[in-house]
Amino acid sequence: MTSRLSLALAGDAVALPERRILVLRPPADAWLSDLPGTPVAVQGFKPDHDALAARGFEVVPEAGGTADAAVVFLSRAKALSLASIAEACAAVPEGATVVVDGQKTDGVDSVLRQCRKMFEVGEVFSKAHGKTFSFPAKAAPADWSPPPARVAGFVTRAGVFSADGIDRGSALLADHVGGLSGRVCDLGAGWGYLSAQVLASADVRECTLVEAEHAALACARENVTDPRARFVWADATSWTGGPFDAVVSNPPFHTARRADPALGRAFIVAAARLLAPRGRLLMVANRHLPYEETLKEYFATIQVLDDRDGFKVIAANTTKRQRGRA
Ligand SMILES: C[S@@+](CC[C@H](N)C(=O)[O-])C[C@H]1O[C@@H](n2cnc3c(N)ncnc32)[C@H](O)[C@@H]1O
Repeated sequence: MTSRLSLALAGDAVALPERRILVLRPPADAWLSDLPGTPVAVQGFKPDHDALAARGFEVVPEAGGTADAAVVFLSRAKALSLASIAEACAAVPEGATVVVDGQKTDGVDSVLRQCRKMFEVGEVFSKAHGKTFSFPAKAAPADWSPPPARVAGFVTRAGVFSADGIDRGSALLADHVGGLSGRVCDLGAGWGYLSAQVLASADVRECTLVEAEHAALACARENVTDPRARFVWADATSWTGGPFDAVVSNPPFHTARRADPALGRAFIVAAARLLAPRGRLLMVANRHLPYEETLKEYFATIQVLDDRDGFKVIAANTTKRQRGRA
């Protein structure tokens, strides 16, 4: 994918000016070094944001300001890809170049069809199971950048997890958070549904929402206005905070690009590290996900509290000496 963009630029397929280039949603390893001009990366996913910054690029979590041209990296969420193209068009002058790069698995063919209806798409460069193409910018259709939505009284945005409504797994886990007290952490808090349920208990002293997606955390700030809430934009797998009396989590089981149960396992290890001695993890997962081994490795006792509709709710308790803390 990264070399596809470089090859498209090296040939005649696409061209960029030697000026300020807005680069929307580049993955951590995106080929950016040899872009002409000055790239400014827009990346709200904290692990990718930090990796790009460590490579020496200017990175901002959300688009804003103007540029002379734009490059859009597509993501698996089509709504997010169209919103990124609309953001690119809004950030550059009319007629400036907007380049789009995406894998087949990102739905590049369908995005290309939609772009062809709206813009004058030039040559399409196909390579390595994906495509790169460009067009002169003009205003994108209004429905490509819908305003924040309201679901069940909560604000969500295109591309955030479960933007259309409350996740069924989280709803199941919510039935079990009523008895929590003290300091609670919601790992991978999304737009804040679970934390709102945690904070319904007067015994909860503080609820820390840790979330890697900047846009999701922005929604959570609007949804959870309780003064006991704290908001942390961080990679949960490496964040150090706590200790907490309880961790609640509906862990992610895929990265933006691929299914990856290792991420859920890393959340379990992080929960063990963040919990106080005798702390409790309450988590929900798709029934088929293989988390038991990791739970047994890091927690003293494990109990399945609920097993319904393809989800399992698990409670795990720490001992005084936690392996995750080692
Ligand atoms: C399955 S969703 C659950 C969201 C929310 N708790 C809910 O119930 O609606 C998992 C969340 O973890 C976030 N996430 C993914 N990787 C992360 C990471 N490394 N650190 C923190 N959050 C992450 C995702 O953006 C997503 O919002």
